[in-house]
Amino acid sequence: MEIVPSEATLGARIYGVNLHQLDDRTGKRIIEAWHEYSVLAFPGQHLDDEAHIAFSRRFGHLERLLTTAIEGTKPEIFRVANVRPDGTLDSAGGPYDTLNRGNQQWHSDSSYKRITAKASALRTHTLPSSGGETQFADMRSAYDALDPARKDWLADKLVVHDFAYSHGKAADLMTDAERAALPPVAHPVVRIHEETGRKSLFIGRHASHIVGEDVERSRSLLRELTESACQSPRIFTHRWRVGDLVIWDNRCVLHRGRPWPPDEPRILFRTTVACDDPDNEWQLSR
Ligand code: OGA
Ligand code: MN
Repeated sequence: MEIVPSEATLGARIYGVNLHQLDDRTGKRIIEAWHEYSVLAFPGQHLDDEAHIAFSRRFGHLERLLTTAIEGTKPEIFRVANVRPDGTLDSAGGPYDTLNRGNQQWHSDSSYKRITAKASALRTHTLPSSGGETQFADMRSAYDALDPARKDWLADKLVVHDFAYSHGKAADLMTDAERAALPPVAHPVVRIHEETGRKSLFIGRHASHIVGEDVERSRSLLRELTESACQSPRIFTHRWRVGDLVIWDNRCVLHRGRPWPPDEPRILFRTTVACDDPDNEWQLSR
């Protein structure tokens, strides 16, 4: 296995492994590398659903979808696409288009859940002729770069992450019960990584405001924090080829998709691994 670190503070490309046939020793080395680099890209793996699910389960229990109405048909596999299930392109302002536009803002998957996502693993299916890259921003080094006064001020702050705030229209196709299962939650803005012990900024587009602070003022502070955090050298950009798989750590990384020609289809598939918690209502038992 060859690990090629990116030039950014996070991200590495991994060569010389076959994710279809992974022995436990290599699996362990991959997880160690993932803790170090936070984002691992595996070019040319061409996984199918079952292999994608099996690889993801090495990282923990998978989360089920929010709603099969928009996201897909298998509970483990989220279809990230601008194409409806019948193969036709969604129009501007439609549910798939709206989800993709949301994905183009910096975020951490499932940060609006009580138990947030640990990992997300994305693989390609259909790619546009240009654009459509995915970018990752290192919230560990973003935290480290804050000035001491700001670190002090943020140290005990909780941030409300709210699906209704960030999703708005994209949730139109969901049932009332599905939406009601996603009440606002509060998470520490300075997150300590369970495995590495490193501190990072836990923010992104689902973050609405800071508990106990003025909503509008704290909202603009969160925007400003995100903007200054998501800058070079903390950005790793993955330019997709068909067959690639990328897995990232949502606890310490923000990500976003980049635009592509809107008349071209782009279809990716994602699994989401939940943080370890026996009472997680979103966790699939398998
Ligand atoms: C995701 C996501 C970005 C992209 O699948 O969670 O945010 O590039 N995707 O599609
Ligand atoms: Mn995402």
